[in-house]
Amino acid sequence: MAAFLLQKEVQLKSSPVLVTETDQRVEKILISAIRARFPLHREESVAAGEPCVLTDEPTWIIDPIDGTVNFVHRFPFVAISIAFTVNKQFGIVYSCVEDKLFHAQRGRGAFLNGEKLQASGQEDVSKCVVVTEIGAERDDLALSTMTSNILRLLQLPVHGVRALGTAAVDMCQVATGGADAYYHIGMHCWDIAASAIIVQEAGGVVMDTDGSDFDMMSRRVIAASSTSVANSIAQVVQAFPCRRDDED
Ligand code: IPD
Repeated sequence: MAAFLLQKEVQLKSSPVLVTETDQRVEKILISAIRARFPLHREESVAAGEPCVLTDEPTWIIDPIDGTVNFVHRFPFVAISIAFTVNKQFGIVYSCVEDKLFHAQRGRGAFLNGEKLQASGQEDVSKCVVVTEIGAERDDLALSTMTSNILRLLQLPVHGVRALGTAAVDMCQVATGGADAYYHIGMHCWDIAASAIIVQEAGGVVMDTDGSDFDMMSRRVIAASSTSVANSIAQVVQAFPCRRDDED
């Protein structure tokens, strides 16, 4: 939060993906704290720059700043996203400017600042607020697919389409019931690993945009208040090819 208000030194990782000194600093803080307590655990993080491979071993999936473009511009939705996968799973999303801590553990519910969360349960897509993003992929096919998907959602029709600029916080809106669905293509596993557990534990559903089972590495996701809303969105959105997060 101290860095949020300052002028940032920005590096362009790959247009328009930005990275700041704070991304690297927060990542170091988190990873060194995890290594000090759990030296045998694995970490998968945005800075590793390598394929993200999930094994059965205890693994932390971290995005030190989700919403880096927001962070650079001081648009006030910026989060730290931490997921942990092993037999049991948990996810933490801290929305820094809002000072909102979302957390969930598999089988134990989802919470926001200690209060239990419940997704809206909405079954009728025409009564939904849907959160999405254009995303960081800017080639012609990605842009035309993502913009025409917004049109298709609006024509369903839905009550409204919103975008906060951080996949982690976008998706947590479904867990609060403030939004009924979130869909995105092109984000990475570290953006949504934690919020996927939070949505499921709040009673929501998470699936692939083609209606198949959720695959964290596929870079496609629908999170929704109900299976029927998720299916209605899966029927209208189209995908563009994205390199999987676990691919070399
Ligand atoms: C980005 C944000 C954004 C989403 C992009 C992500 P980053 O993550 O989550 O909402 O549209 O696809 O890459 O780069 O700020 O960690």
